[in-house]
Amino acid sequence: MRFLLGKNYEQMSRKAANLISAQVILKPDSVIGLATGSTPLGLYETLISWYMKGDISFSKCRTVNLDEYVGLDPKNEQSYAYFMNKNLFKFIDIKPENTHLPNGLNLDNDAECKRYDELIKSLGGVDIQLLGIGNNGHIGFNEPSDEFKAGTNCVKLTESTIKANSRFFESIDDVPKFAYTMGIRSIIQAKYIVLVASGKNKAKILEEALFGPVTPQNPASILQMVENLAVCGDEEAFSVIKEKHKDIIFE
Ligand code: GLP
Repeated sequence: MRFLLGKNYEQMSRKAANLISAQVILKPDSVIGLATGSTPLGLYETLISWYMKGDISFSKCRTVNLDEYVGLDPKNEQSYAYFMNKNLFKFIDIKPENTHLPNGLNLDNDAECKRYDELIKSLGGVDIQLLGIGNNGHIGFNEPSDEFKAGTNCVKLTESTIKANSRFFESIDDVPKFAYTMGIRSIIQAKYIVLVASGKNKAKILEEALFGPVTPQNPASILQMVENLAVCGDEEAFSVIKEKHKDIIFE
């Protein structure tokens, strides 16, 4: 596990963007696992600026997103399909047919989960997976639970996630109650994982996930089992780790 420390959000985003861009330069047809949430936005902006300068091309890349709300049309501004288009895809040269998300409009849960797992398999698995971390340790939308779910699954969102994500909706009642998410197995089978975290409110859960017990009650704790993991954080997100684990080397 590597710890990449940025002095602030911009620097953290730049360090994470460097890892994604190195992957794409080394393997132009990489399968990139993408994430939503506010944390990856700086990283996406950085990748867009490097694309615009001509340093990097996504023309052969394939992407698979971690998750999508059940019931939301890709045209809905709160859908993750819309988010990805608005914040990344429309600015770069990725082919729309090479971008994939779970289909929130397929209400046949079993069929959609199976389709998404088969899709990831048909692409040959994920080369580099970007992850954020929820306030309760969720990765993708894998919420704290009694078991780690292996494949793509339909999750009932917890009250705390609905509350946290309500900031993007007009009212808390508009937040969908269910989401499709890539499962823990697909996530940890990625050849490389980049976890991004920013801000004080992630400091405690990040320390618990990376140094506490491995438990489905803190889904991100599964990342302790992964060798090829880079945790990119800013000073605030790493504050508890810095305080409790003086031996950790930050790059
Ligand atoms: C959402 C997404 C997660 C993301 C999390 C944290 O629930 N499904 O993939 O990691 O939010 O978001 P933020 O980066 O805004 O804190």
